[in-house]
Amino acid sequence: MRRLLPGTRLVVASHNPGKLREIADLVQPYGLDAVSAGSLGLPEPEETETTFAGNAQLKAVAAATASGLPALSDDSGLEIEALGGRPGIHSARWAGPGRDFSLAMQRVADELETAGAWSGPGPRANFTCALSLAWPDGEAHIFEGKVFGRLVWPPRGDRGFGYDPMFLADGESLTFGEMDPADKHAISHRARAFALFVDACVDGRQP
Ligand code: IMP
Repeated sequence: MRRLLPGTRLVVASHNPGKLREIADLVQPYGLDAVSAGSLGLPEPEETETTFAGNAQLKAVAAATASGLPALSDDSGLEIEALGGRPGIHSARWAGPGRDFSLAMQRVADELETAGAWSGPGPRANFTCALSLAWPDGEAHIFEGKVFGRLVWPPRGDRGFGYDPMFLADGESLTFGEMDPADKHAISHRARAFALFVDACVDGRQP
């Protein structure tokens, strides 16, 4: 597989500020020069696929072909067992046009209430992250990571982003919203997908 060398300019094909921050933190130790799709004026393609992997690939290929640079994209979301895997690929949409995640978390809590899923130790859920690396000629690869846990209500903590304040990873006592970002990076779905991406595609200094 073609590899990324230190100093390579890499487009981070996301317009989500929380993800951009986390991906920039993950990429930085490898000497890659990360630049966001937004700062290059690249449009945000519509996510028309039905899987995380499909949407990640669509975003990475669009950014790589438009910019002429390798591009890394992330498609991710929260899957809740008692809701049949929802919100899944629609995780961002549950926050509405204003991207209000207190609204999205309230909807999760209400739907779990209706499903009678709050009894017991907390509903099972996982975050999934599909990362795609695409080259300007259209070659693309997918790396997928998951983290499993339970949901809590009310939400706890104001760190992280999205659904972090209501997600408690297995074996942890702090939600992703309460954790130090470095502790989240050590176990998150994004970090797991990122480790697979680094193994396959990145040359350079290990952190
Ligand atoms: P998309 O991949 O841009 O369609 O959006 C994924 C959505 O999933 C985000 O807007 C968040 O709501 C949610 N999500 C993905 N990763 C995380 C995470 O690490 N913490 C909390 N929420 C996340």
